[in-house]
Amino acid sequence: MGSAPATVHEIRRTLRADGPATVLAIGTANPTTCIPQDEYTDYYFRLTKSEHLTELKDKLRRICKRSGMEKRFFHHDEALLSANPDFADRTLPSLDARVEIASAAVPELAAAAASKAIAEWGRPATDITHLVFSTYSGARAPSADLRLASLLGLRASVSRTVLSLHGCYGGARSLQLAKEIAENNRGARVLVACSDLTLIGFYGPEAGCLDTIVGQGLFGDGAGAVIVGADPVGPTERAIFEMVHATQATVPGTEDAITMQLMKGGLDFHISDQVPKLLGASIERCLLDAFGSLGMSGVKWNELFWALHPGGRAILDRIEGVLGLEDGKLAASRQVLRDYGNMSGVTVIFVLDEVRKRRAAQGGGGPEWGVMMAFGPGVTIETMVLHALQSNET
Ligand code: COA
Repeated sequence: MGSAPATVHEIRRTLRADGPATVLAIGTANPTTCIPQDEYTDYYFRLTKSEHLTELKDKLRRICKRSGMEKRFFHHDEALLSANPDFADRTLPSLDARVEIASAAVPELAAAAASKAIAEWGRPATDITHLVFSTYSGARAPSADLRLASLLGLRASVSRTVLSLHGCYGGARSLQLAKEIAENNRGARVLVACSDLTLIGFYGPEAGCLDTIVGQGLFGDGAGAVIVGADPVGPTERAIFEMVHATQATVPGTEDAITMQLMKGGLDFHISDQVPKLLGASIERCLLDAFGSLGMSGVKWNELFWALHPGGRAILDRIEGVLGLEDGKLAASRQVLRDYGNMSGVTVIFVLDEVRKRRAAQGGGGPEWGVMMAFGPGVTIETMVLHALQSNET
C-alpha cells in the first residue's frame, strides 16, 4: 500500500453513517377487489359453498360486526376462485397452484407500493443499495425480492434479504433490519417492501377450527414500501421520522398463541383468543425497556404519537386500556383497520403513512416522540422509538 494503513477502527468510522436511520418515503398499494365488511360473510360462504354451516356463518357475521372494519381488499376474486375450486377445501392439495399465483402477484403488488415510495423519495431506483422483503405468502427461491428488483430496475449489486412467515411483525422487523443496515453502511439506501396476500390461506370454514373464521374475518391484502437511509442528502431527500431505537421481545410461553404452517391445502394458521390479553400484559414492559435504554424515564404514553399494528379491534382496545391512552391516540391504527383490515406485516407501514399524513394535515404539529409497535408469532413484540422531524428540519 502507498500510504499508511488506517486502523480497523478508523475504517469502521468512515464506513458507518453519522446520523440515525430515517424514514425518507412511504408507499402503499392494494389489489382492486374491495369487499365491504358487512357483505363479507355472505360473500365468503357463497364462494366457499358453505351456506349450510349456519352456526359458523352467524359467528363470522358477529366477528365482522365487531371487527372495527368497513372494507378489505383482496387479490383473489370470484373468477380466480371459480378457476381454482380446490382452494375452498383445504383437505385437497392446492399449495402448488397457490404458490404459482402468489409468486407473480406478491412482487407485482410490492412493486406498485415501492414505485410510489421511490417517486416520493425523488432519487433513481438504481440508487437503492439494499432490499429487505417480507411476506408470508410465498414459498419459492429465488423469491419475490428478485422479481421485485427486476420490476423496479434495481442495480444488479443490490443486497437482498427475505423475511418469510413473520406474519404480523414482518413489516416492523424489516424496518428494524433496514435501520441497522442504513446506520452501518454510509450512504446505504434501503428499500423495505412487504406484500401479503391472503390467497395462500383462503379456504372454507370448518367446525373444528374456529381460527379459520377469525382469520377470514380479519385479514386483507396489501403492500407497503419504505425507503430508509441515514444522513439525508438535501434538497432531494427529506426525513420524515428518525428511527431512534428498536427492540424485539418474545412473550415467554406463548409459542402456540399465533402459528402459521404451509400445508398441502394452503397456509394453516391459529390465533388464540388470549392474544389481546397477552399483549396487554406485556406491552408496558416493552415500552419501559425501549425508552429506558435511551435514558428516558417517566415518559407519558399520552405525550407520544402512536403507530401500532391493528391486529384486531380487541387488541387496540386492550392496549388503549392498559396504557390509559386518550381517545384518538390510536386513531391512525383504527383508521387503517377500518379501511383495509389486518394486512399482516404490511399494516404497520400503512399506519406509519397515516400518522405522517395526519401530522402534515396539522401543519407538522403533534408530539415530537412516538412509538411504532407490531406483534406476531412468537408471540413477538417489535418496538421502535421514533422521532418526528418538523417540516423545516432534515
Ligand atoms: N379464536 C376463536 N374464536 C374467537 C377468537 C379466536 N381467536 N377471537 C374471538 N373469537 C370469537 C368469540 O369467541 C366470539 O364467539 P361467539 O360470538 O360465538 O361467542 C366471536 O368471536 C366474537 O367475539 P366477541 O367477544 O363477541 O367480539 P370481540 O369484541 O372479541 O371481537 C374480534 C372479535 C375477532 C374482532 C376480536 O376478538 C379481536 O380483535 N381479536 C384479536 C385478533 C387477533 O388476535 N389478531 C392477531 C393478529 S396480530
